[in-house]
Amino acid sequence: MFKQGLLGDKFYIIGFSRRDISDSEFRDQIGKHFAEIDSTEWQRFSENLYYQQGKFEEVAGYSALVKRLEGFDLEIGACITRLFYLATPPDNYNYILDHLLSTKLSEGCGQGSGKWTKVIIEKPFGKDLESAKTLDLKLATIFNEEQIFRADHYLGKDTVQNMLAFRFANGIFDPVWNNKYIDHVQITLHEKNGVGRRGKFFDGVGNLRDVAQNHLMQLIAAVAMEQPKSFVKEAIRDARANAIKAMCCLEIDDVSKSVVRAQYNGYKNEENVDPDSQTETYVAMKLFIDTPRLENVPFYVRAGKKMDRDVVEISIVFIQTCHILFKEYGCPEIGNVLTIRIQPDEGISLRVVAKNPGTKVSLGTVDMKFSYHESFKTKGTEAYEKILLEIFAGDQTLFNRSDELESSWTFITKILEGWKKYHSPLVIYDDNSNGPKEAQELIEKDGKKWL
Ligand code: BG6
Repeated sequence: MFKQGLLGDKFYIIGFSRRDISDSEFRDQIGKHFAEIDSTEWQRFSENLYYQQGKFEEVAGYSALVKRLEGFDLEIGACITRLFYLATPPDNYNYILDHLLSTKLSEGCGQGSGKWTKVIIEKPFGKDLESAKTLDLKLATIFNEEQIFRADHYLGKDTVQNMLAFRFANGIFDPVWNNKYIDHVQITLHEKNGVGRRGKFFDGVGNLRDVAQNHLMQLIAAVAMEQPKSFVKEAIRDARANAIKAMCCLEIDDVSKSVVRAQYNGYKNEENVDPDSQTETYVAMKLFIDTPRLENVPFYVRAGKKMDRDVVEISIVFIQTCHILFKEYGCPEIGNVLTIRIQPDEGISLRVVAKNPGTKVSLGTVDMKFSYHESFKTKGTEAYEKILLEIFAGDQTLFNRSDELESSWTFITKILEGWKKYHSPLVIYDDNSNGPKEAQELIEKDGKKWL
């Protein structure tokens, strides 16, 4: 962003954390990640980086931060807008918010005026429905809604945003985007990486809260939402919120039938992970959307770590009709599939049935493809870049509203309660595999297959 001139002439990035390091040590640490930047450019950028030591639970660091920020305001001769980015494990949110309030950091330099501050809360926003509501109430006592940015970087991905354009700017898709034509939907969010160095954070959270409650829900919403009334912030958030609210039909007693909970084989040996950990690194589930458009269309969704490949994609599998005319020529088992590849190799493909070349009539499938890279010669804007730019501009369209979060937590909390009530078994899957056999069975018992 700096290289593109998007950060303005002067800005201050202040790291706040436990370790006692100086501004220059902080700059060196950050610098290691930017080896490719030329040194004068790095020099200009790094002059804007600062560090304040402090413990999240103790007021001293915050008081020192007040002084530091006052100094910066004086240097500039104006009140500088403050963005408090809580990129911390969620357990710390309470302390941080309490201290932002008690030291009046939350009010910014024009004391008493809310307009000088914004707060960004990273996901997971709470641990369950109740804690998400408590966190929301707390935020509301400190900040106005316009100051609160509940981040989910999947909303900043070009490929996710394109779902709106793809579905509603092309008149040909909407007429078939319903239960008359769609057989089922599959969504996969597979990552090759394990938890790496994030064991401490992840072991207390698990994949359901880490990616399903947020990223997966947003992908489901992108498929399920109705056309927004307009392209303004609240209309888009309304459409998204309604889709998430319509996720349904999972009762606590059904959780074991509809949700698979699994852990990769080597997880317990990862750094900072409890050797007896029961935390899931993989979830697969079947759910429905209670809207006239998609009623009775099953959604099979899965998300896992240490998988055999990196892939995030949505597949809309259409009802197979080819046998009506071509039965004796061998219709492919699965016919039309629209696949939206969120990453990598961003793009969209449509599988269609075609006559194989030759004198005899026989049918096969072929893909019609659109690749972002080939068409636009770019991968697009990085999600976090977009998220930050929107925060600077004060636009909340790409951020969760309270009701969206409340609905997704209502759904996810049922799963958590079902797991607890029935002591749901944790199945183990091989590292670098395609997930547990229980996830295959989840879809196969309905006579379908993961693509
Ligand atoms: C983060 C999760 O929100 O999303 C990580 O905390 C996960 O565990 C990551 O790896 C995936 O994001 P992306 O953009 O790489 O798909």
